[in-house]
Amino acid sequence: MAPATALRVVALCLVCATAVRQGLGMRTVNAIYGDTIIIPCDLDIPKSLLFGKWKYELADGSRQFVATRAVAKPIAQYDDVPEYKDRLYMTENFTLFIINASITDQKKFVCMLVVEDNVFEAPTVVKVFKQPIKPEIVTQANFIETGRLNMLGECIARDSYPESNLTWYKNGKLLKEVNETVIIDFQRDRDQASGLYTTKSSLQYMPTKDDLNADFTCIVVYEMPGQKESSVSEPAVFDVYYPTEKVTIQILSPTKSIKEGDNITLKCIGNGNPPPQEYLFYTPGQQEGISISNNYTLTDVKRNATGDYKCSLTDQNMLASTTVTVHYLDLSLTPSGEVTKQIGEILPVSCTASSSRNVSVVWTKDKNKLRFSPSFTSLRYQDAGNYVCETVLTEVEGLKKRKTLTLIVEGKPQLKMTKKSNSDGKSKTVTCSVEGYPMPVVQWTSMGGGGIANKTEESSYINGKFESKIIIAPEDNVTLTCIAENKLDRSIASMNVSAISIPEQDEPEDKSDENKEKVNDQAKLIVGIVVGLLLAALVAGIAYWLYMKKSKSASKHVGKELGNTEENKKLEENNHKSEA
Ligand SMILES: *[C@@H]1O[C@H](CO)[C@@H](O)[C@H](O)[C@H]1NC(C)=O
Ligand SMILES: *[C@@H]1O[C@H](CO)[C@@H](O)[C@H](O)[C@H]1NC(C)=O
Ligand SMILES: *[C@@H]1O[C@H](CO)[C@@H](O)[C@H](O)[C@H]1NC(C)=O
Ligand SMILES: *[C@@H]1O[C@H](CO)[C@@H](O)[C@H](O)[C@H]1NC(C)=O
Ligand SMILES: *[C@@H]1O[C@H](CO)[C@@H](O)[C@H](O)[C@H]1NC(C)=O
Ligand SMILES: *[C@@H]1O[C@H](CO)[C@@H](O)[C@H](O)[C@H]1NC(C)=O
Ligand SMILES: *[C@@H]1O[C@H](CO)[C@@H](O)[C@H](O)[C@H]1NC(C)=O
Ligand SMILES: *[C@@H]1O[C@H](CO)[C@@H](O)[C@H](O)[C@H]1NC(C)=O
Ligand SMILES: *[C@@H]1O[C@H](CO)[C@@H](O)[C@H](O)[C@H]1NC(C)=O
Ligand SMILES: *[C@@H]1O[C@H](CO)[C@@H](O)[C@H](O)[C@H]1NC(C)=O
Ligand SMILES: *[C@@H]1O[C@H](CO)[C@@H](O)[C@H](O)[C@H]1NC(C)=O
Repeated sequence: MAPATALRVVALCLVCATAVRQGLGMRTVNAIYGDTIIIPCDLDIPKSLLFGKWKYELADGSRQFVATRAVAKPIAQYDDVPEYKDRLYMTENFTLFIINASITDQKKFVCMLVVEDNVFEAPTVVKVFKQPIKPEIVTQANFIETGRLNMLGECIARDSYPESNLTWYKNGKLLKEVNETVIIDFQRDRDQASGLYTTKSSLQYMPTKDDLNADFTCIVVYEMPGQKESSVSEPAVFDVYYPTEKVTIQILSPTKSIKEGDNITLKCIGNGNPPPQEYLFYTPGQQEGISISNNYTLTDVKRNATGDYKCSLTDQNMLASTTVTVHYLDLSLTPSGEVTKQIGEILPVSCTASSSRNVSVVWTKDKNKLRFSPSFTSLRYQDAGNYVCETVLTEVEGLKKRKTLTLIVEGKPQLKMTKKSNSDGKSKTVTCSVEGYPMPVVQWTSMGGGGIANKTEESSYINGKFESKIIIAPEDNVTLTCIAENKLDRSIASMNVSAISIPEQDEPEDKSDENKEKVNDQAKLIVGIVVGLLLAALVAGIAYWLYMKKSKSASKHVGKELGNTEENKKLEENNHKSEA
């Protein structure tokens, strides 16, 4: 070996040392699939360089030149290698560019610098990396069932280089293979044309109820220059089917409490997934269930619908039970409606409520609350009115009943006359106190006296009573008659009022003690009759005397006087009648 050559070999060996430092004795260039591979020529350029050249060497020892650049020539020349056609570029400093890196570019490329009597070589290994496409879980199950292995799906990570690994995760936790519970099948394929790997992993899984809404993901771990990277699939969530273990029954009602006339729906719910849609319903006292959907509707329920309702799953012995209470409220009032009675009559009244709960009745008369239930042993005019008996079942919304009794108390007119001298001393007030229903019509008539009744006033009609008053100033004695009449009867009373010039004792105006007044009236009446008879006798005596004295012309007058007497007698009789 010539000394010059020896020197160059030393130089070459220095390069070798550099390459060792950079790993495994050879320089390595990493490239991403599809990118441009840049391979610098790892040699010092000698002064007497003739040309530079690139070749690749294969494992079997074969070699192939790909590019040449002579120092004297401005452009590089590329060998006719189909694989590298239009993909290579060599710069002036002999750096080689390979565009569109592919897996087959993983070779040992050697830069050669040729001088007159020597060749320097620098090899570089090319490594290509390809990130897989984001993994995908395909052929996902629509649902998974507890108690058996289910094929959840298959995770695929396509086109990686070098090989990648797939792992499954549930809710972010690694899923390891477990006998008969978790079975993972791993498979890796290589595409012959591209040299890329496709990794698949299927997962068979035996879920529990807790896996409802769990998310399953798969992660691909792949190599990139100098590090490992990973990529996660979209999560897959599965509906977990599990059998019913318990059945419950619900009452669906628009209101909290059920009352007659309501519609209610009983709903049966099994805790399985999906919830069963068919159940057996048992109405109170029934042994045989009715097989229907998950609900059973009762329309317009009556009180007899109260009871225990059950339901069970058709094929199992799970039974659920609930009690339905249909509330009711009845109210009966006797008598009710419009009732007409005579004064003094007996009228028993009863209002009773019957209900699913204890209730009480409330009475009102003409909108005023009554403290006791009304009942009448002897009807009075003030008993007439609008009675309402009401009851409410407070526990049940809208359960309220009311009945009415419109009581009319009728009575024949009754009347009583009183008189009193007014303080002016010139007039007298005669009062006719009237009682009766319907309201009697009062008429006044007067006889004699000259001072005719000219002013009547009526008090208001309360509790079947009112007063008709007349103020008179008679110049002569006068007989006043008060006539009260309604559809039931007519009542008449009369009273003699002496001329204002004659002082007269007023009759007491005591109205509270009717019995006393009656006795008083009776006494007055008797006195009146006696006085009347005496007067009649006196008149007859005078008349006879006048008759005797004045002969024929007086006879007419006597007839008239007698007529008056008779009329008065009749009035008295009527007065008796009206008092009775
Ligand atoms: C060679 O030349 C290219 C540009 O032509 C340059 O980017 C590169 O750094 C050079 N390499 C060396 C080793 O000089
Ligand atoms: C890169 O190479 C692949 C084959 O390896 C080819 O299908 C693709 O078209 C090339 N891309 C470019 C930009 O040349
Ligand atoms: C798995 O099952 C096999 C036989 O079926 C048994 O030998 C093995 O011990 C089981 N492993 C575990 C972790 O249960
Ligand atoms: C894939 O798994 C194998 C064996 O467990 C391991 O040797 C390899 O490094 C893994 N690859 C990646 C990219 O993690
Ligand atoms: C009950 O249902 C019937 C129809 O099935 C309907 O006509 C009626 O109005 C409902 N009653 C109530 C109280 O909702
Ligand atoms: C009751 O059952 C019928 C028939 O299956 C269904 O269409 C309806 O939605 C159910 N109603 C309720 C409240 O679940
Ligand atoms: C409940 O009573 C109603 C009458 O109020 C009757 O039509 C119906 O058949 C009764 N239902 C039952 C289950 O006894
Ligand atoms: C309801 O009335 C019954 C007797 O009629 C009585 O035993 C019961 O205690 C009452 N309940 C209430 C809540 O008042
Ligand atoms: C009633 O009589 C008095 C005298 O007694 C007289 O002053 C008055 O005008 C009369 N009224 C009517 C309405 O006739
Ligand atoms: C009027 O009545 C009084 C008694 O009240 C009697 O004393 C008087 O004589 C009577 N007058 C006439 C004109 O009848
Ligand atoms: C009223 O006086 C007349 C006589 O003027 C007499 O006949 C009659 O009985 C008297 N009536 C009463 C109710 O006092």
